[in-house]
Amino acid sequence: MGPVILAIESSCDETAAAVICNGKVLNNIIASQAVHRKYGGVVPELASRAHQKNIIAVVDEAVHQAGISKSSLDAIAFTRGPGLMGALLVGASFAKGMALALGKPLIEVNHLEAHVLAHFIEEPKPAFPFLCLTVSGGHTQLIQVTDYLTMEVIGETRDDAAGEAFDKAAKLMGLPYPGGPLIDQYSQQGDPKAFSFPKTEMPGLDFSFSGIKTAFLYFLRDQKKANPNFIEENLPDLCASFQHHLVGMLLDRLEEAAKQTGIKEIGIAGGVSANSALRAQLQARASKLGWHIYLPAFEYCTDNAAMIAMAAHYKYQQGLFTSLDTVPLARYPIAQ
Ligand code: KG4
Ligand code: ZN
Repeated sequence: MGPVILAIESSCDETAAAVICNGKVLNNIIASQAVHRKYGGVVPELASRAHQKNIIAVVDEAVHQAGISKSSLDAIAFTRGPGLMGALLVGASFAKGMALALGKPLIEVNHLEAHVLAHFIEEPKPAFPFLCLTVSGGHTQLIQVTDYLTMEVIGETRDDAAGEAFDKAAKLMGLPYPGGPLIDQYSQQGDPKAFSFPKTEMPGLDFSFSGIKTAFLYFLRDQKKANPNFIEENLPDLCASFQHHLVGMLLDRLEEAAKQTGIKEIGIAGGVSANSALRAQLQARASKLGWHIYLPAFEYCTDNAAMIAMAAHYKYQQGLFTSLDTVPLARYPIAQ
């Protein structure tokens, strides 16, 4: 039997644990933190406390569901970063404590590499080289992946993340946090061409979303002057138009990256990859351009520990272990 690894993820607002056996994910346990909803965003201090509260139950559940004893684990993996420092410290300290108590090796995982490696949890798996567009609440990156642990960021956002842009636009329309999924829902009944917004041009393969956020803010402000009920009366059209604009920005860059690298194996990762317009339009471009596209199951797209476990599996195979004095990194770029 191959290695059995317990992985812990605590970089933001999900406390998660998973067990992987010989490269096969056995479970994927997540405790989502509802506490942030009323604040309209993740409150770091509250995230750390909620991780402290949930982590034992989440880890116990993963081990229990795997039907193993802790002593039969071959390694303990954790998210070293990037993420919220206080939140990362909870998972890292817990993983170290377990590794020390059980006398097992420790494996650190880069959260962003793990989002990419979520593509290898289930079939069909991409062939190398492949291009991954990671779009989440905290990150927007175009990554050229040469091998499981060899990847390079070839484009990224200069300001807000794509998910952040969705969430901020939703907030401007009075929708609760996180607004991304709600924009997606309302868009189903809206006209994506009802309103148009200016495009922000960035050099190379980088992204910028602060311009569209500001343009949307001023647009709503001006419309509300003429009609105080403008948002309520046009919510589906507003959502569909904003979504159409943002998805277009993401896919235009992805198409450019595919053209420049000549890669046709294309994946998307991160919470925003759940967006139905992004999926539909990715499919349309794939048909047009001959891409093979990969869309992991939703539970592996949003923050989860199964992807951390998958990354840990590849690191274990290469003997990439971490010393017990390793500290989390709030900023932890993908190795170039
Ligand atoms: O990957 P994720 O769970 O956490 C981070 O690492 O940030 O991504 C969460 C982000 C949030 O900004 C949320 O609004 C966005 O993903 N999101 C969506 C959709 N589902 C989640 N955005 C647009 N459409 C969706 N269907
Ligand atoms: Zn993430």
